[in-house]
Amino acid sequence: PTLWLVVPAAGCGRRMGADRPKQYLTLGGRTVLSHTLSRLHAAFPEARLCLCLDADDSHFNPAWVPFRDWRRVDGGVERVDSVINALEAIVAEEGDEQALVLVHDVARPCVDAGDLARLFAVVDDDPVGGLLAAPVADTMKRDDGAGRVARTEDRAGMWHALTPQGFRLGVLRRALTRVRAEGVTVTDEASAVEALGLAPRLVPGRRDNLKITHPEDLALAGRILAAQAS
Ligand code: C5P
Repeated sequence: PTLWLVVPAAGCGRRMGADRPKQYLTLGGRTVLSHTLSRLHAAFPEARLCLCLDADDSHFNPAWVPFRDWRRVDGGVERVDSVINALEAIVAEEGDEQALVLVHDVARPCVDAGDLARLFAVVDDDPVGGLLAAPVADTMKRDDGAGRVARTEDRAGMWHALTPQGFRLGVLRRALTRVRAEGVTVTDEASAVEALGLAPRLVPGRRDNLKITHPEDLALAGRILAAQAS
């Protein structure tokens, strides 16, 4: 079956506090969006890409898309809405519910080639699908809502959910449309699939697959990319 890539890139990156969405900030003279798409293309050159962009996006340049087969869809209010828009566009073209869909945040330009290959091998062979994830290293505190520790969570068995996350088209579409209809907030694909009672595979990935979110993350991502290139 076909491999589809969905890249939600319709966020405004409010937490960055920059003059433009974070996917259009530059690292080594190239936009974050361009870095991320290049990484994906190097791993999956024949994949079909669906890129979610804000309808009013004034920064995007199609020259940054290395894929031969790609389409643009409008983003939605929340990330889940953007991804659902992408899945609707894919369903209009793809007859096979079993087609594999990998969803990857545009804000994760440091994703490793080996991790992409391993994730693909696992989810392509799994009835449910799965996600890249990294074990939690820090001790985890739950706050009391007033700046003090309410309790310490047991970090054993806790993972950071990264992207890509890969599922079959049919399952993913059912999962996401259902959580949206029920008004449940989800921040990744796996939690929607979990809500169907399914258990996605955790595929251990590198911890440096960071999501550029806060201002200090940009320089860190630049150093990770430079170190990976050397
Ligand atoms: O804001 P956050 O970093 O969690 O966003 C994760 C990803 O989802 C980013 O790649 C962002 O561009 C994307 N997004 C989107 N549509 C939205 C909100 C976020 O495509 N409405």
